[in-house]
Amino acid sequence: MSARLFRVPTSALRVTFLPMSYETLLFEMRDAIAFITINRPDKLNALNDQVVDELAHAAERVGTDDAIRGVVITGAGQKAFVAGADIGDLAKQGPFDGKARALRGQAMLRRFETCGKPVIAAINGYALGGGCELAMACHLRIASDTARFGQPEVKLGIAPGYGGTQRLPRLVGKGRALALILTGEMIDAQEAHRIGLVNQVVPPAQLLPTAETVLRGILAMGPLAVRLALEAVDQGLEMTLDEGLLLEANHFGLLAATRDMQEGLTAFLEKRAPRFEGR
Ligand code: COA
Repeated sequence: MSARLFRVPTSALRVTFLPMSYETLLFEMRDAIAFITINRPDKLNALNDQVVDELAHAAERVGTDDAIRGVVITGAGQKAFVAGADIGDLAKQGPFDGKARALRGQAMLRRFETCGKPVIAAINGYALGGGCELAMACHLRIASDTARFGQPEVKLGIAPGYGGTQRLPRLVGKGRALALILTGEMIDAQEAHRIGLVNQVVPPAQLLPTAETVLRGILAMGPLAVRLALEAVDQGLEMTLDEGLLLEANHFGLLAATRDMQEGLTAFLEKRAPRFEGR
């Protein structure tokens, strides 16, 4: 029997976390929401290896800590969400460590994307290269009207390495994705909204309050339903329509076994707000 059959998905493993004090991130818990701020404003929050490692730790913590129910990711300062991978690090890499760096960054982003809890990017400025890729791995994107987006890697003789060639066409379609990736040009927040790259554009002062309000709205929904909806959309995109529909029907049936479904339907019929327990 193939060893593959015995492989336990890493997302299913429960890990005990040693406390880690981050040097490049702020990690603040407020009423079950983790606010993660990438904190290198003097370098426009560029993703060096340490930021990627600390984000990977934070993503694992989000996925495994039941006290965390949702996440907002933003960048420190007024100017940048994240201005890309750290170009100083990239300048030193050879082919093998280049590939390893791409795989590490991709795995970190995938861990956020599959953590089972809603993750919102609050994009406060430049979201370029790895910054745009980080935003795209989040489930929703809310942008300040000063934000700018782009995949400028080709200008540096490299190509996107943290999922840009894969998530951008899934979000905005192949033609628009190729236009951004091949020209390296930046677009403003309104254009990003027009093409479906961001969900909402707000004035800078409203960015974090809006992200929190949207997230708290989602947290008021049935948490198991939210988790399975995230999973069905994520996995369904990689399936045939029939496979995806079957996955959806299985989730629909599974939710019928939960107390939350009973509570949600009963609350509607009794004309009251539901009290979900996540069970
Ligand atoms: N990696 C490493 N450092 C970066 C960086 C990156 N991706 N983006 C910006 N920085 C650093 C700059 O080197 C500068 O550092 P210094 O003050 O020590 O010289 C600091 O952040 C401020 O950036 P600066 O270029 O002076 O700001 P600006 O307002 O003139 O320009 C940008 C802003 C975003 C247009 C410009 O910084 C830029 O093009 N950055 C690179 C974007 C990119 O190509 N990203 C993809 C990388 S794969």
